[in-house]
Amino acid sequence: MIRGENISLKLGEKTILRDISLVVDPGEFVVLLGPNGAGKSTLLKVLALILKPTSGRVIHKYQGSDREEDIKRKIGFLSHRSFLYERLTAWENLEFYGKLYQVADLTRRAEEILEQVGLSYYCHDPVYTYSRGMVQRLSLARLLLHNPEMLFLDEPFTGLDQKGGEILTETIKVLHEQGKTMLMVTHYFDRGVDLAGRILVLNKGSKVFDGKLTSSDLRDIQEFYRAQVETE
Ligand SMILES: Nc1ncnc2c1ncn2[C@@H]1O[C@H](COP(=O)(O)OP(=O)(O)OP(=O)(O)O)[C@@H](O)[C@H]1O
Ligand SMILES: [Mg+2]
Repeated sequence: MIRGENISLKLGEKTILRDISLVVDPGEFVVLLGPNGAGKSTLLKVLALILKPTSGRVIHKYQGSDREEDIKRKIGFLSHRSFLYERLTAWENLEFYGKLYQVADLTRRAEEILEQVGLSYYCHDPVYTYSRGMVQRLSLARLLLHNPEMLFLDEPFTGLDQKGGEILTETIKVLHEQGKTMLMVTHYFDRGVDLAGRILVLNKGSKVFDGKLTSSDLRDIQEFYRAQVETE
């Protein structure tokens, strides 16, 4: 479970997040929506313990140890930054992260995950030769390698082609079915939003909506969302 209590974040004079409180239960799938600059990426980083809020706090509760480094090991974070080493091959990148996260049976796991994201054929090429979409696929592989319990996905569809998008949608579905807790920022209403049990809308650093999806009709959600951000 993640509990955010009165999270505010200021950078200089600017308030990026304003007094946000929320609880995300284990296995929940929350989609974070909001216009550019609303604070979505920042909130995701705060909840994933990458950024510290100026005031308020974030508490993660899992079975077992509650040491911050053990909790961080249960987190997978996908963002615009790939966290990959350009000069290393895909295989070497996964080896590096696998050792860092002490992944069991690493060779088999790396093979399996490269196959899953469709990169087996290119896995011995250095990452600097990869296209943007291939980098995104490899980022996904890196994210999943240590089988995190909790996934933070910041616009994961960016840069993916049709096939890449389908692989990701399917992967997200499977992860959700496996009971992973998921928080995803996206601008694509037609990808994954229907899988989410709950949407959270941010605008200008504030939470303006947090609730269950009552309709599976995406057009309703889209219209509702537009109304939320336009009334501000
Ligand atoms: N390191 C930083 N220094 C200064 N301002 C920042 C920094 N990071 C974010 N901001 C500001 O915080 C606000 C929220 O940024 P954030 O990246 O969280 O928005 P977002 O909702 O993810 O937007 P987008 O949809 O464009 O990705 C923006 O006004 C941005 O300029
Ligand atoms: Mg963002």
